[in-house]
Amino acid sequence: MSRIVSMEADLAGVVLRTPLVLAAGTAGVIDEMADVLDLSRVGAVTTKSITLQPRAGNDWWRILDLPGAAGMINAIGLANPGLDAFLEHACAGAAGGEGVAAMPCRVIASVAGFSVDEYVKVAANIDEYSSAHGGCFPLLELNVSCPNVRSGVEFGHSAGLIRELLEAVRPVVRSAKLVVKLGPMTPDLPGVALAAALAGADALNLGNTMPAMSIDVEKRRPRVANTTGGLSGPAVHPVTLKHVYETRRKLAEIRPIPIIATGGVMHWQDAAAYILAGASAVGVGTGLFVDPRCPLSITRGLEKWVARQGRTRLSELVGDLLPPETPGREEG
Ligand SMILES: Cc1cc2nc3c(=O)[nH]c(=O)nc-3n(C[C@H](O)[C@H](O)[C@H](O)COP(=O)(O)O)c2cc1C
Repeated sequence: MSRIVSMEADLAGVVLRTPLVLAAGTAGVIDEMADVLDLSRVGAVTTKSITLQPRAGNDWWRILDLPGAAGMINAIGLANPGLDAFLEHACAGAAGGEGVAAMPCRVIASVAGFSVDEYVKVAANIDEYSSAHGGCFPLLELNVSCPNVRSGVEFGHSAGLIRELLEAVRPVVRSAKLVVKLGPMTPDLPGVALAAALAGADALNLGNTMPAMSIDVEKRRPRVANTTGGLSGPAVHPVTLKHVYETRRKLAEIRPIPIIATGGVMHWQDAAAYILAGASAVGVGTGLFVDPRCPLSITRGLEKWVARQGRTRLSELVGDLLPPETPGREEG
């Protein structure tokens, strides 16, 4: 007899029906994926990262499929409609014109900016909109991979910058829970993650793409117009897996906040590995480009795995990793 398994994921009190989160920038502005995927069967959709002003993004080509199923390189350049059009058109027009609040899954609003002030304005406005529309964005994610204009580095790159950002943003986000999304190149990622947790982040998303490049040697030209871009997909999974494992351990005794693990989830095993390393939910981005319905097969695979492990709740397996199995060392 098959067991009934609860696949719910709890992100700082916001409960997702399943742990599968469509990653920022890979699922349209808000609800475009609804054309190909039943959104009532995913945990959450993340919006495209929204900036204060509209952005056209970089020139084409800006997406590249890598050989050998390594993943892809993108250099979209944060193309998005900007805050005003996002609230007036995208939010209002979602769910066939009924608005974001009518969407059948949780919606995470992703916020990006090029100054502290910009993050504050975008986050405050989206949070206010959410309060006025039935809490339609219960989670607000800060994409801190944008360069800080003042110092030229990413906001997520140091504990000091993250603290400065959260000191300004935390007070204006009154209803949504705050997620901080850190990229895999963050120096001392567990340390920066802890700084974010102590500065008021309710959850973390680890991680983002890794800086990368590809060259067409016959044409002797870079393959994306921006010359370099961000690597995502299977190649980044082992890197982010280690970050999730180490960050969970670092936070454990001080301020254990939930982690969304994002990077290279193509099959249920990739997601299961993240859960065992300590993630409460998993993001899927590149996987959607290969198969837009992959969140459903990943969820089914996870469900069977939870049952095989003799558990009734996926959450029981979060961080439940055993030590390595070793045949030991030969004497002599
Ligand atoms: C085409 C594309 C656009 C993206 N846009 C954003 C974005 O706007 N904001 C953001 O936080 N991450 C963005 N990302 C990063 C993804 O959300 C995700 O963190 C990353 O791709 C790693 O996950 P994956 O290996 O499953 O794709 C983008 C990724 C891709 C491939």
